[in-house]
Order: sequence, then structure tokens, then C-alpha cells
Amino acid sequence: MAFTHEKIETNIGLMIILIVLTISIGGLVQIVPLFFMHSTTQPVEGLEPYSALRLTGRDVYVREGCYLCHSQMIRPFRAETERYGHYSLAGEFVYDRPFQWGSKRTGPDLHRVGGRYSDEWHREHLMDPRALVKESVMPGYPWLADAPADASIIQKKMEVMRTLGSPYTDEQIANSPAELEGKTEMDALIAYLQELGTAVKMRR
Ligand code: HEC
Repeated sequence: MAFTHEKIETNIGLMIILIVLTISIGGLVQIVPLFFMHSTTQPVEGLEPYSALRLTGRDVYVREGCYLCHSQMIRPFRAETERYGHYSLAGEFVYDRPFQWGSKRTGPDLHRVGGRYSDEWHREHLMDPRALVKESVMPGYPWLADAPADASIIQKKMEVMRTLGSPYTDEQIANSPAELEGKTEMDALIAYLQELGTAVKMRR
């Protein structure tokens, strides 16, 4: 008997197997090349792995849940690029583990916030957002100004990042505790924010 379409449509077991097979092949064809393409695996020009201070700031960002209200992913739509700057490129996130794309925008996207405001602006804003933006619903984070940046585990963190592919030198890792000396978590967070998205020049 010929292998007809009717045979598939009347045999649910066969249909399930063929659907799984089709989706698997289709999925692999879409996903596997991303692991090998330059534009998704190579850092964009000028991108550096996070310095000790910025890496610490990034961990504060994650710990405080900033990603719950802020995305770091500018989509390639006119309304977004007019507001935030150049759309996000995969090569900008190669040292982000885990990435902070987020999926909720209670506040604005932060991917290109680096350099948009002064350090002082950020400090005041993080202490009390409503001091600068009257209608803001963002909470204040005043305790960050009193919390020293944690230097005790920074070397370990950088070693782990190096294992995962961030090209730190032995010297950078050895000097990392010194880089955090006298810094607060607020300093670290601001240093992190100020570098966000700056590897790709802002077109505003
Ligand atoms: C409850 C949601 C919420 C959380 C949590 C939150 N934000 Fe915000 N954020 C906002 C809103 C709303 C605004 C816009 C009003 C304003 O500027 O305060 C904003 C604005 C900002 C801006 C200014 C962006 C711009 O382009 O003008 C920065 C920077 C920022 N937030 C950083 C942070 C950081 C860092 C954290 C974590 C420590 C954080 N936010 C946590 C809601 C939030």
C-alpha cells in the first residue's frame, strides 16, 4: 500500500512521531548555527569584560532585582531606537552571564543608559528617585551607599568568569581586591550603569 497522507492523518501515533521529528529538525536548523555565527558569539569591537568594580555592581543589580522593572534589550523598531539609541546587538552580551535582558519595562530600558547622566545624578536618583523624577515609582536604594563593595570573593568570581570565557589576565584578577578598596556597592552599581551599552556608539 502506498504511503499516503491519509495514513498519517488517521494514525495519531505516527502523526505524533512525525510532528516531533519535524519540530526537532526545524529547531536544530534555527538554533545550532547561532552557536557558530560570528555575529552572535564574538564580542562587538571595543567590548571589554567587566572590571572588578563593574562586575560587583552587576551583582548588586541582580541582587536588588533591578531587572524586574528594567529591560536591557532595545528592539530594532523605530520607536525604540529613537528613544534609547542603537538597537541591542548579540555581540554586546558575550560577557554577560547571565544576561540581563529582562522582560518587563516598568521603568525605561537601561541598555544604553551608560553616559546619559552624571554619576551624581545616579547617586541622587538611587538614594531617592522622587527627588529627581517626581512621579517615579522606583524604590530608593539608600543602603547601597553604606555597604562596602565585597572584595572577599571577587577573585573567585573573576576566575569563574574566565572559565566561562571572559578573557581576564592573571594580573587583573590579582589586582581586583585593590580595585574595590574603599568603594561602596553604590559606587560599583553606578560604575556598572555608566558603562552599559557604551561599546556601541550611541546614535541619538
Ligand atoms: C518598581 C520598579 C523599579 C525597580 C525595582 C527599579 N526601577 Fe529604576 N526606574 C523605574 C521607573 C518607573 C523609572 C522612571 C522614573 C525615574 O527615572 O525614576 C526608573 C528609572 C531608572 C533610571 C533612569 C533611566 C533613564 O533612562 O532615565 C535608572 C538608571 C534606573 N531606574 C536604575 C535602576 C536600578 C539600578 C535599579 C535597581 C537597584 C532599579 N532602577 C530598580 C522603576 C524601577
